[in-house]
Amino acid sequence: MNHNDRDAGVMRIYEQLVEIEQRLIPTGLHVFGRPAELKEKADLLRMVASFDRPEFGALALPRLIAEALGINSYDSLLQETSASETKELIDSIVGESVRQFCHGGSDSAAKWLSTRANVEVQKSLPVFLLLANIAEQLDSNHEIDSLLRSLRGEYIEPGPGADIVQNPQVLPTGRNTHAVNPYSVPSHLAFTRAKLTTDALLRRHFEEHGRYPRAMALVLWGLDNIKTQGEGVAQALHLLGVRPVRDGLNRATEIEVIPLEELKRPRMDLVMTVSGIFRDLFAPTMALLDKAVRRVAALDEPLDMNYVRRNVSEKIDGDGGVFDDAVARVFSNAPGNYGTNVNFMVMESQWETSDALGDLFVTRKCFAYTRDSKGQTIEGREARALMDHALSRVEATYQNIDSFEVGITDVDHYFEYLGGISKAVEKRAQARPAIYLSDSLSPQTRIRSLAETIRLETRAKTLNPKWYEGMLSHGFRGVAEIENHVANTFGWSATTDAVDPWIYTDIAKTFLLDSIMFDRLHELNPYSVRSLTKRLLEAHDRGYWNPDEEILEKLLNIIEDLPGA
Ligand code: BEZ
Ligand code: MG
Repeated sequence: MNHNDRDAGVMRIYEQLVEIEQRLIPTGLHVFGRPAELKEKADLLRMVASFDRPEFGALALPRLIAEALGINSYDSLLQETSASETKELIDSIVGESVRQFCHGGSDSAAKWLSTRANVEVQKSLPVFLLLANIAEQLDSNHEIDSLLRSLRGEYIEPGPGADIVQNPQVLPTGRNTHAVNPYSVPSHLAFTRAKLTTDALLRRHFEEHGRYPRAMALVLWGLDNIKTQGEGVAQALHLLGVRPVRDGLNRATEIEVIPLEELKRPRMDLVMTVSGIFRDLFAPTMALLDKAVRRVAALDEPLDMNYVRRNVSEKIDGDGGVFDDAVARVFSNAPGNYGTNVNFMVMESQWETSDALGDLFVTRKCFAYTRDSKGQTIEGREARALMDHALSRVEATYQNIDSFEVGITDVDHYFEYLGGISKAVEKRAQARPAIYLSDSLSPQTRIRSLAETIRLETRAKTLNPKWYEGMLSHGFRGVAEIENHVANTFGWSATTDAVDPWIYTDIAKTFLLDSIMFDRLHELNPYSVRSLTKRLLEAHDRGYWNPDEEILEKLLNIIEDLPGA
């Protein structure tokens, strides 16, 4: 390796370390009725202050600092993927100013910032006043009181559902979460952000494959689209090359086609699988998505610039099908049903060949939500052959991630959906799709492959002492959380094979082979230790991981010593 290669290698490692270091993670579980602790509060406030908040007349602190330091384009700085001294300097000033705020309040933090970085007090004060308001609400906590009131059948004040960073107005907690008006989705902001995200997504696919995907499969969830005012929906519309249009009552019920000259790329074909919750909450949005696909399919455009039209006409020419069938792209469960069950099949180890997982996904999700040739709404008609066919053209699968609290290994739902559909595509397209996730938790738009995201989540959470010690401070439940992460990681192996073997080795070393750690976990929760060990052995049995004999023997001994713990 010459000096330049070495330096470039060191730089890449450094950038990855910064990425892990800066990732916001929950460092413990929420205890019902207990307000946030100071450290957690400071982290949250720093994150809140990193976004522009026009609704509160506040600009992002990093932006104010960059401008005051004479850095001309903060927005292009944000889009840079590499770490830089400038970014680090800005981050450290943001961190210190939030610490000043936590100790001395708004005025003192604004003064400090004006001395340290020349930021005018009247510009930073709105940010700190917003933080003061949030900090106060984080200190008050009505959860227990509200629970008692609800048990008595009394009125509970409603409040929006989101996470604090997405929408600080969710505070105080302990209110009755209400959703959104489905007609308001997607919001203007969601569509603006979606353009950046989908451009980055398509750029990434193009760079890796030299062309755009023939078709893509998207997963849309209800709660996520509530939290982001429809970012996932907006991304789907933008990939199709259309924008939402509001009617006289300000409802997003229409779409407008973005001309190809403006779009400057082909319109993507999408297979959208929506959760049961999305279907229940967003009926008008389901209709909007269906309408968008139909409109695009009917455009008189060159086939190489309109993949929906190309795929629809190939389908009709191929098997003589009708337009209304060939254009079905919005799928969900049968009415009244929820979920894919892929997670249950994985957790209970009830599958032999991995195709069974993708087939189960399609069995559960092959209900089309569309229209017939007379324009009548069809709400959940079984359409397995249509879904099979649509998936057979898919080359990339994708889901928008919008919360730092719930990541892809925290719950089993990400692998049941994104993993499940990717597995279904693999059999039907006879090739593994590229699998991407966005990261809309930070002000910059990031697209990562699934394998990259699993590595990052593993390093930032599962194997990070800050994360697991935070969990272990909750006793037996903490061990169960660690075991959950391992099981969900295993779920990604089962559905996508995107988990590096070293991840299982490091999990074994960290939690089972280290005797002090093993004793702690065993003391707190032998049941979860047993499940975790069995899961690692199953990962070996199924060929996801090939550990040294020594590790394997140790795992087998643990199971022997913990019979039916
Ligand atoms: C949803 O919000 O749509 C959802 C929530 C949990 C699991 C799956 C989907
Ligand atoms: Mg669960």
